[in-house]
Amino acid sequence: MLKISPEKGFKTELQAPTAVLVTRRVTFAAAHVLRRPEWDDRRNKEVFGQCAGDHGHNYVLEVSVSGEPDPATGMVVNLKDLDRAVKQAVVRHVDHRHLNRDVPFLEGVVPTAENLALVFWRQLDGQMGSGHLQRLRLVESENNSVEVTR
Ligand code: NI
Repeated sequence: MLKISPEKGFKTELQAPTAVLVTRRVTFAAAHVLRRPEWDDRRNKEVFGQCAGDHGHNYVLEVSVSGEPDPATGMVVNLKDLDRAVKQAVVRHVDHRHLNRDVPFLEGVVPTAENLALVFWRQLDGQMGSGHLQRLRLVESENNSVEVTR
């Protein structure tokens, strides 16, 4: 017969420290166009559709770091520091910019959501203070998002 002991389950949970995932959400607005300069208009339109013309998005960027809460503060990472790091490494470079022209770390990159997420990951990795970058989600529109995980 199966015996359920809530008290025992509770204890086990507390005794086994596991990493906690903490997520910060930031937003930015940016313009982009999806096209390869070496392709003609027809091929660019075929592959990239409507995105082959200039347009913009209100992006949402979610950055998740993992770690164990500091016993003194109860925090994996101070959200103020995480917010500052994300703004320093990514947002201040891309907000209200044209992603094809204005951002040195995106030079030569077709700014699809996939590529942006990968480049943002590189910008952020190692900049997360006491937490470890674990997941990054970039929402491009209501219907599209991409996710990079370690
Ligand atoms: Ni687009």
